[in-house]
Amino acid sequence: MSNLGAAACVMARRRDETTEHHQRAESRPFERALLGGTLPRALYVELLAQRYLVHRVLERAARDLRDAHPVLVDILRDELFQEANLVADLEHFGIDQDAIVATRATRALIEEIERLADQRPLALLGVYYVFEGSKNGARYVARSVANAYGLPPGSGLRYLDPHGEQQRALWLDFKQRMDDCAFSTADQDAMVAAARLTFDCVGELDDELWAKVPAACTSPPTA
Ligand code: HEM
Repeated sequence: MSNLGAAACVMARRRDETTEHHQRAESRPFERALLGGTLPRALYVELLAQRYLVHRVLERAARDLRDAHPVLVDILRDELFQEANLVADLEHFGIDQDAIVATRATRALIEEIERLADQRPLALLGVYYVFEGSKNGARYVARSVANAYGLPPGSGLRYLDPHGEQQRALWLDFKQRMDDCAFSTADQDAMVAAARLTFDCVGELDDELWAKVPAACTSPPTA
C-alpha cells in the first residue's frame, strides 16, 4: 500500500465506475422476481447456498488480508462478515452446507478470489465492496422475501438484512475508512476491475438460477 498517486476517494471511484454494472445487476429477471416476491422459495434458498460458498472463501481471504495489512483491521471486521449469517439461514431452511454444489458462476468467482488472494491481494477489496454494498439494497429485498415466504422476523433473512437499523451507519463508516486508506492508483484500478468482475459473476449466477425457474412462474399472466 502506498499513497503515491492516490486519488482522493476510492469509494466514489468504485461507485462511479461500476454504476452500469449495478444497473445491470438489479434489473436482471432473477433480482426483479426476488424483489417482487414472485421467485419460488427453493431458488431463494439456492441463492443463499451459492453465496455461502463464495463468502466462505472471500472472508477467509479477507482475514489473511487484514493480517498482512493491519490498517484494514477496522474495515474487514468480523461483525460485517456474512458466513455465519448464511449458515444460520441455511440451517433455517434445513440445508446441509457440505452438500452444496457450486454452479459454474460460483466456481468462476471463487477461482477469481483465490487468484487475487495469490497474485493481487488488495484487489480483493473490490470483491468485498460489491457484497458489502449490496447489503444496502438487500434490506429492501428482505421485506419482500419475508412476505413472499411467510418468514418470521430474522428467520432465513440474516444474510439479506444482517444489521437492521445499523445498516446505513455501518456502510458510511466502511466507506469513510476505505477513503481514509491511501491506496495507490494501481491498487484502486485493480479493485475496480475486481468489483466489475464480481458484478458479472453475480449476474451470471442470477441467470443460472433463473434458468431453473419453471416457465409457468416466468411468463406474464394471461388475461
Ligand atoms: C433488486 C435488486 C437490487 C436493488 C433494489 C438494489 C438497490 C440498491 C440501493 C437502494 C442501494 C443504495 C444506494 C445508495 O444509498 O446510494 C444499493 C447499493 C449498492 N448495491 Fe444494490 N440493489 C440490488 C441488487 C444488487 C446486487 C445483485 C448487487 C451485487 C451483488 C448490488 C450491489 C450494490 C453495491 C455494491 C452498492 C453500493 C453502491 C455504492 O458504492 O454506493 N446490488 N443497491
